This record gives sequence, structure tokens and C-alpha cells, in this order.
Amino acid sequence: MKAHLITYGCQMNEYDTHLVQSQLVSFGAAIVDTVDEADFVLINTCAVRGKPVEKVRSVLGTLRKTKAQRPLVVGMMGCLAQLDEGQQMARKFGVDVLLGPGSLLDIGKALEGNERFWGLAFKDELHDHIPPPPTGKLQAHLTIMRGCDHHCTYCIVPTTRGPQVSRHPDDIRRELDTLLSAGVQEVTLLGQNVNAYGVDGGARLGGYPSFAGLLRLVGQSGIRRIKFTTSHPMNFTEDVAAAMAETPAVCEFVHLPVQSGSNRVLRRMAREYTREKYLTHIAEIRRHLPDAVLATDIIVGFPGETEEDFQETLSLYDEVGYDSAYMFAYSARPGTPSYKHFEDLPREVKTERLSRLIARQKEWSARKNAEKVGTVQEVLLRGDAHDPAFLEGHTRGNHPTVVPKAIGAAGAGIYAVRIEHATPHMMYGRILDAQGRELPEQPRLDPASAALSAPLAMA
Ligand code: 5AD
Ligand code: SF4
Repeated sequence: MKAHLITYGCQMNEYDTHLVQSQLVSFGAAIVDTVDEADFVLINTCAVRGKPVEKVRSVLGTLRKTKAQRPLVVGMMGCLAQLDEGQQMARKFGVDVLLGPGSLLDIGKALEGNERFWGLAFKDELHDHIPPPPTGKLQAHLTIMRGCDHHCTYCIVPTTRGPQVSRHPDDIRRELDTLLSAGVQEVTLLGQNVNAYGVDGGARLGGYPSFAGLLRLVGQSGIRRIKFTTSHPMNFTEDVAAAMAETPAVCEFVHLPVQSGSNRVLRRMAREYTREKYLTHIAEIRRHLPDAVLATDIIVGFPGETEEDFQETLSLYDEVGYDSAYMFAYSARPGTPSYKHFEDLPREVKTERLSRLIARQKEWSARKNAEKVGTVQEVLLRGDAHDPAFLEGHTRGNHPTVVPKAIGAAGAGIYAVRIEHATPHMMYGRILDAQGRELPEQPRLDPASAALSAPLAMA
């Protein structure tokens, strides 16, 4: 079998795609890069906003046409697959295999017969399953929990991914060991709400550490950089900030979604914290980690949001001074409480507020990134940038960074980089040696260049 996988949505989905892909490989499938080469196409879907849902609809439409011309098995996995909306779509477009986020390990069974297979159960086997490490990569994801016990009124995730289930610390440790032995140097711990790790359904699990405890534990694993995402402010404790500060492998990067700066809106979102409480968490983070890089998620145009409410979001942005943010216009999702109970604001109001918020974010990101010029950052360089004379990667604070290849540093790895220039979206620097001196830049091997053609011709 030749399988092609397409992934939409968050890092949890990327992890799940990797998991299913490695199952397919273990059954003897080859993974191919295009739909044209494939006899099985599997789409990992996202249902959090309308846009990714529409994207899946259009891809399924195209695949139905392909299916009419040649034998092709079409599969759909992930959040949308778990919802009525996704299942209706699957019926309409003749999807053969449907796997909800809790049934991923049914992939083998799904492909056995010629029958249509739909798996929608939440199965425990997923939690102790250790997928093989990615090959040839310095970075990996590691899911430490699945599902979510919160009920934010706008959010479909508790429906698609079910209640929170934490993975056993021994399984997390085993998975980290496989990543370490495969040469992975940066691991991002994933969950809808990692701060609630070890407390499922409100009850503390025996034998599980708190999230702060888990950070201290994984800090000893030998992995050089540990990151995590994402956190719910309601479950954030000062001990997490303390654990980050005392564990060198844990990067000083915190993604703490605020969603809104207005208490009235936060209440209607059922976020379970106030603006003031959120700001005390930011103060705790800054006290323990003065150089913390802060990122957030914000929804604008939640039903009933007034201009004053929106101004409070802007003022909170200024008060925190985030390094970066993911910003969204509210999208009414069938199946969520806010879809059922509240009236959507006009689209123009939402997009106009979104553009004002994005402008504010750009100003802050420009300012924050400019502060980094002249500093030395530890950068994990993944490999070639778009221009192969350069390498691209990111700092401990997740700033995308580009450097020219240097003599002695022409490939992937973790390097010390002096930042020379910054834009709101990107930092540019040069690789340093152990003494803090710039490594000589590697000559550009551009065969079209006249300067190089002479010595090349001589050789
Ligand atoms: N509309 C817009 N944004 C949403 N998010 C979640 N649900 C919605 C929705 N219905 C955003 C939140 C969350 C991020 C993953 O997606 O900001 O933190
Ligand atoms: Fe949605 Fe809230 Fe859970 Fe995040 S924490 S997934 S926003 S319900």
C-alpha cells in the first residue's frame, strides 16, 4: 500500500499523524508525498473553527473525483471525524475509513476488510502506546495527556477529544528514552491543558506527579530542550514557574492563552479566571523567569463583545507585552454552548477587530524581537532555509531564526547565535564558536556566479 497523509490543525494532530503513519509503516505501507502516487489518502482533520472544516470539505470533494477515476481508499481521522458534522461529510463524499481521536490504533483493523470502517470509541490502548521516534529529526512532539475537562463555551475540543486522560509517567519516560536514543534534542510535551496533568476529572491520580513535578522529572531525561503546550490559566500554579526556573532543560517559553481581556467576556466564555487572576500568573512567571518569552491565544468578536470589551483585550495585551500571539475571529461551532445560546456578531465587526489586534501584536513583536538584537540565543537549526546558503530554526523562546551556513556549522544542530537583525516575525543572526567568536561564513556555492566559476573550472 502507498499511503499519503494530510494534516490540519494543532501539534496534537501532528503527533497523531506521526502515530498513525508509523502504524501504517509497521504494516508494510510506503509513505508517499503526493495524492497522485497514493492508493490510500488519510486526512487528519481539525474542527476548532469553520475554516479548517471547509478546507477538509473541499479536499474530500476533490478526492471523490479522483476516486471516480481510479481505485483509491479515502480516510478521515481526528477531531472532525468525531462529530456528526464530519460523519455527514464522510457519507456524502464516500469516505471509506473514519477514525476519531480515540480510535487511532484501529487503523490496521480499518484497512483489513473491504467494508467501510468507522471507529469512534475512546480506547485506553492509545495511552501506553509508544510510537517509534521520528527519523533524522532533532525535534519531536510527545503527547502527555489527551482530552480536556474544561467547558469553554466556544470550544468543540471537549466533544471531539473527550474528557482528560493523563498518560502514565513511566510511559512518558519510555517514550522520551526512545526519542533521546534517536538523537532528538528538543521535545514539546503536548496536551489541551498540560497544567492539569495528573488530575483527571478533578481527581489526583495515585503515582502521577503534578505537571511541575513532571517537568522536573523530564528535565533529567537527557533531552536538551523541553517545551510544552498548551496551558489553561485556571490550572496554572506558581510551582510550574518555579520548576521551569530550576530545570535548565525546560525552555523559558510560556504559551498561556488568555482569550479575552474583559472579565465580562471571560465569564461568558466560562474560562474560570478573571483578568486580574491571569495577570497574577504572568507576574509569577516573570518573578521566576525574568527572561520568559510569553505567547497567548486570543479570540476577538465573541458573541456580545462590545468595543469596550475589545479595548480591554488591547489593554491587557499592552499590560503583558506578549512576544507573540495566535489571534482568531470567533467562529460559531455547532455543538458548542456559545453556538446554541448566543448570537454571532457581524463578520465585519469581527474582522475589523482582528486586524486592529494583529496590528498591536506586530508592534509588540517588533519591539520584543528588537530587544534581542545583540544578544546570544541558543538556536536549534533544523536544516536548510528556503535559500540553501542559510539554515533555519528557532530559539528557546520559539522565535523563527535564520543564519548563514558557516564553516564547521553547515547542518542541523543546536548552536549559539548572535542576533544581528530582527523583524516582527523573524530573527537573523550568525553562528558563534565556543569562545563566542563568529564562525566564518561558508562561501556560497552558486554555479551561476562568475566569481565562483573560475576556481570551479580549475578544479
Ligand atoms: N472560534 C475561534 N477561535 C477558537 N479557538 C477555539 N475555539 C474557537 C472558536 N470557536 C481558539 C482558541 C484556542 C485555539 C486553539 O483556538 O483561542 O486557544
Ligand atoms: Fe477548549 Fe478550553 Fe479545553 Fe482549551 S482548555 S481545549 S479552550 S475547552
